[in-house]
Amino acid sequence: MQASLKALLRELETFGRQHDSSVAERTGRMLNITPDTGEFLAVLTRSMGATRILEVGTSNGYSTLWLADAAGAAGTVTTLELAPEKATLARANFARAGLHERIRLVEGEAGAFLAGCDSASVDLLFLDSERRAYAGWWPELARVLRPGGLLVVDNAVSHAQELAPFMQAVREEAGWSTSLVPVGKGEFLAVKH
Ligand SMILES: C[S@@+](CC[C@H](N)C(=O)[O-])C[C@H]1O[C@@H](n2cnc3c(N)ncnc32)[C@H](O)[C@@H]1O
Repeated sequence: MQASLKALLRELETFGRQHDSSVAERTGRMLNITPDTGEFLAVLTRSMGATRILEVGTSNGYSTLWLADAAGAAGTVTTLELAPEKATLARANFARAGLHERIRLVEGEAGAFLAGCDSASVDLLFLDSERRAYAGWWPELARVLRPGGLLVVDNAVSHAQELAPFMQAVREEAGWSTSLVPVGKGEFLAVKH
């Protein structure tokens, strides 16, 4: 990773911590992944050679930068964000990182976007968004991932109770292998056979 990107990520980590501790309303917070989760996503991306990445929940683009850097020059990260003010921050961060050409930011509701995605068109799908919607999105999430594709779900430990029905449903699906990894806020992994 280039020193300039490392420096930007450190800056965003500080910004996220300070900002989130001063904002009472949850929807106004950045709610970024932890730095060790960023490292973990980068290792997963590089190890599977993922070039078609879909992220649900951009915020100001902190996790997107980890994914886009790891995806390499041939990779594309499509990232979905509902809140226009967060999309504006993310766009600026993508340009600052010089990674804007490999990132496609889609402003809008993720469920509608997922319904329009081609089947088996995604190598790695990172879910860090409206957790209550995941169970309803599951048929589309499963459809858009290619065989051998990987679903990564953030907050699997920090919000274990909330995500329990979704994780249980995925665990019970035939044709998937799952694992709960205690990195950051907890990452639930599901690979499609
Ligand atoms: C936890 S934050 C994402 C943090 C980001 N992944 C990071 O680590 O930098 C969740 C984001 O999902 C967005 N969001 C919530 N519901 C959504 C939906 N239905 N479609 C698209 N984005 C949504 C929120 O506006 C919020 O910015």
